[in-house]
Amino acid sequence: MQVRALEWAASGALRILDQTLLPAEERWLELDRVDAVVEAIRSLRVRGAPAIGIAAAMGLVASLRRSLIEPRERFLASADAGCAALAAARPTAVNLTWAMDRMRRCARATPGDVAAIFAALGEEAQAIWNEDRAMCRAIGEHGQALVMDGTNILTHCNTGALATGGIGTALGIVHVAAERGLRVHVWVSETRPLFQGSRLTAWELARAGIPHTLLPDNAAASLMGSGKVDLALVGADRVARNGDAANKVGTYALALIARHHGVPLYVVAPSSSFDPACPGGDAIPIEQRAADEVTRPLGRQAAPEGTAAYNPAFDVTPAALITGYVTENGIRTPPFD
Ligand code: MRU
Repeated sequence: MQVRALEWAASGALRILDQTLLPAEERWLELDRVDAVVEAIRSLRVRGAPAIGIAAAMGLVASLRRSLIEPRERFLASADAGCAALAAARPTAVNLTWAMDRMRRCARATPGDVAAIFAALGEEAQAIWNEDRAMCRAIGEHGQALVMDGTNILTHCNTGALATGGIGTALGIVHVAAERGLRVHVWVSETRPLFQGSRLTAWELARAGIPHTLLPDNAAASLMGSGKVDLALVGADRVARNGDAANKVGTYALALIARHHGVPLYVVAPSSSFDPACPGGDAIPIEQRAADEVTRPLGRQAAPEGTAAYNPAFDVTPAALITGYVTENGIRTPPFD
């Protein structure tokens, strides 16, 4: 798997592939300040629930290198402030707050001088990344129970290597199937308004040599009605305790269409995307984004200047529309306890 969303720079900075420029340009950015990492997360240069948690953890470490001269209490205060700023960069993906909570706890729990805390934070960030890579692989393997030779899979947004620290979640299942020689075909919804499907998923699948076909989001109903979709696999930014799942806006519509046409729809996510403290979908904070993402898609004016736009980045699919959940621990289907 060649595609990566992020890595460490030799200098200790966070390096990310700027996803806003894909597929036209592959440009890597080096970030070593909290405000730069916050900007990169907000503007979706790095994106996808697991990837933003990992990027925030690595970015925090990179930024703390310049605090190594501070006394312990000041260093811990800098770490806390960095965690708070990064956790607030985007509200919906629980992976971000989960990763920042881990980093904060690690800093507080490490005895000794600032060098020891800094080393422990570096190891914790690497552990968050390594664990995500392993969870993606386990998800991909468990997901094979859903896939056969010739399966036509519909997916939404990008849940692959660009969105995680490994091979991906929903797209990870596709990658493992292809690795095992299954001839799967992927229906890729373009995912307006920021086109993560067409810009990122199609790019990733092309790189992997996996057959795929792009569709406008609003063609999903007629496509599923035509019987050409066997399975829908989507990711999640936060799964509430009752199973309601927030994911890229448009997922809810896909789930309604899938249910109408008898297509199974699975939410595919690592345990870091599950939020047991959140009772249900109503309690999931949904990020509202700028109107110009809708009125000026890809930088080109597509509505009269000043047109108001409704632009939630995510929607919530009720648990009742979800056939099951694929996690690193296996596949869960109703009834749930
Ligand atoms: O706004 P984005 O591009 O960060 O949205 C990403 C998604 O909705 C993904 O489906 C989700 O984060 C799961 S990524 C494995």
